[in-house]
Amino acid sequence: MQILQILSSPRGAASYSNQLANGLVEKLVAANPGSQVTVRDLTNQPFPHLEEVHLQSFFTPAEGRSPEQQAAVRHSDEAIAELMAADIVVVGAPLYNFGIASTLKAWIDHIARAGITFRYTAAGPEGLVKGKKVYVAMSSGGVYSAGPMAAYDFVVPYLKSVFAFVGMTDVTVVRVEGTSIPELQAAALPKALRPATYPCKKVDQEDAKGIWRA
Ligand SMILES: Cc1cc2nc3c(=O)[nH]c(=O)nc-3n(C[C@H](O)[C@H](O)[C@H](O)COP(=O)(O)O)c2cc1C
Repeated sequence: MQILQILSSPRGAASYSNQLANGLVEKLVAANPGSQVTVRDLTNQPFPHLEEVHLQSFFTPAEGRSPEQQAAVRHSDEAIAELMAADIVVVGAPLYNFGIASTLKAWIDHIARAGITFRYTAAGPEGLVKGKKVYVAMSSGGVYSAGPMAAYDFVVPYLKSVFAFVGMTDVTVVRVEGTSIPELQAAALPKALRPATYPCKKVDQEDAKGIWRA
């Protein structure tokens, strides 16, 4: 199996989403001996925000691209090649201001390419990144899987929507949540990783009482 691990927390080893993603990858490798893991840490290897030259490069056929456009499209081509080569994709996603980190959004902007990872057909849009299993390793200071803050989680609906749009419809979300809530913090990561809750974490209703505290 080829496993692509995308990390978007800048907090390195202290990050809950990084630790959760690492834990999921360990389990996946144990279950699939001989797997190869490619790690893309978006903090150390950031993708540029889309500028005009990137858009021009996306919409110009390869043979007609200027040297500047050829350089600009390389990030996207590399990211798409890594994605296409993967059987399993594990995405670490901290919740920032109710959404994903901007580094992860930049990666998504580089992998969603018309004619390459999706196309428009007479029947509507068709995703071209097929046959992948995706795990989202999400971390949040508060509790968003249920309860009063659930409507403020734009991470899971967004990631599921955009991944499905490019063809990745098999998405499992595992959450380490309540990392800013003292009474939930210590158990949050072990709970997300415990075998009984992996890969589909069952959410305890009592956890839902927490809200994010800075
Ligand atoms: C810039 C920033 C924005 C955040 N926004 C939210 C938020 O909207 N809701 C929330 O519950 N936690 C929020 N948090 C807390 C993080 O989700 C929490 O600390 C999480 O554990 C971070 O992921 P990491 O441990 O993988 O770095 C925010 C943290 C930062 C640094």
